[in-house]
Amino acid sequence: MNRYAHITGWGMSVPEKIMSNADLMKIVDTSEEWIISRTGIRERRIASPDQTTASLATQAALNALEVASLKPSDVDLIIVATSSPEHIFPATACIVQDRLGAVKAGAFDLLAACTGFIFALNMASQAIYSGSIDNALVIGAETLSRIVNWQDRETCILFGDGAGAFVLQASQEPGGQLSSVMRSDGSGSDHLSLPAGGSRYPANAETIKNGSHYIQMNGREVFRFATRVMAQATKEAIQAADLKIEDIDLVIPHQANRRIIESAARGLGIPIEKCVINLDRYGNTSTASIPIAVCEAVEAGLLKPDDRVVFVGFGAGLTWGAAVAQWSGPFPTRWKIKPHRYQLWAKIRSFLLRLLRQMGW
Ligand code: ACO
Repeated sequence: MNRYAHITGWGMSVPEKIMSNADLMKIVDTSEEWIISRTGIRERRIASPDQTTASLATQAALNALEVASLKPSDVDLIIVATSSPEHIFPATACIVQDRLGAVKAGAFDLLAACTGFIFALNMASQAIYSGSIDNALVIGAETLSRIVNWQDRETCILFGDGAGAFVLQASQEPGGQLSSVMRSDGSGSDHLSLPAGGSRYPANAETIKNGSHYIQMNGREVFRFATRVMAQATKEAIQAADLKIEDIDLVIPHQANRRIIESAARGLGIPIEKCVINLDRYGNTSTASIPIAVCEAVEAGLLKPDDRVVFVGFGAGLTWGAAVAQWSGPFPTRWKIKPHRYQLWAKIRSFLLRLLRQMGW
């Protein structure tokens, strides 16, 4: 009996605070003209002090569960793809699991930088195909503003904060995730990294002084790599789904740089209008960029049931990948579930569990 993994819910959450290019000009030596012409970015969102990767992820997940009309307790698996986790461990996904009250979900983080969401989508789909789970939450969430060097004009202009989430559900109805391509090349690991804070370079006075706790990037090399792999991965994923480029209704690429997306569109021989671009308003939100773009595409009526869509991305590692999906929409339900209403119970449950643990139970 074949099982398929359908995308039945989607949600996003971005901070309210907007940082424009003009705001950046007050911090580093740059110009509106340079940022727009080289990247296409006009503004990005910046988390407030009380917002974290887990809080944005939880909100996006609740919104996605609402679209799918699922309770947090229906979720079997939570994967948070992130490059800016709350801690090295515990996993941000476990914090999200607790906040949602997803009582029966296994939860873990996946680190494949900006490609993380595509890798996570594939992992969750495989778990559904195998029959080990029925309902998964796949989340991309970032607070990159906390790990960016605000004195480095080559990186601080690029990134933004936000989160996006999908609900994947099992069904015997054909559709949903059709194919996936995952690639990596660690020989390019030096081109984009956050060198310190792990076991290789533990935090010390020297790593703090020399800025090794911030994102470091060789922009030109990453650019060259990205323009090489985006079209190639898209073609491979389309072929793996037994489709042709003409069968694809929409491409939702990782939102890093408008010129990279334009180059991918040229490589695929498709008009740029077939690619969703919203990086002008959010910058590069790493793992969150694809699900955020999906939410906006659905809202704008660009993505409709049965449409065939490609998700494609690249990032540190180096990693890259693509996935083809047949857009599903929510499964029909008899009544609408409001997952936000379970938040109070999740809080009480978490409080009681902590209390009981303190009492030695
Ligand atoms: N404002 C003004 N001038 C700048 C700025 C800035 N913010 N940043 C760099 N410059 C200058 C450089 O110093 C350089 O000056 P020089 O010629 O006097 O040396 C000049 O602009 C050109 O620099 P380049 O690096 O050649 O600029 P380029 O056109 O390559 O654009 C950019 C730089 C935007 C970073 C581009 O290389 C890029 O987008 N690369 C990909 C980055 C990316 O996508 N990273 C995320 C990957 S996803 C993940 O895993 C997180």
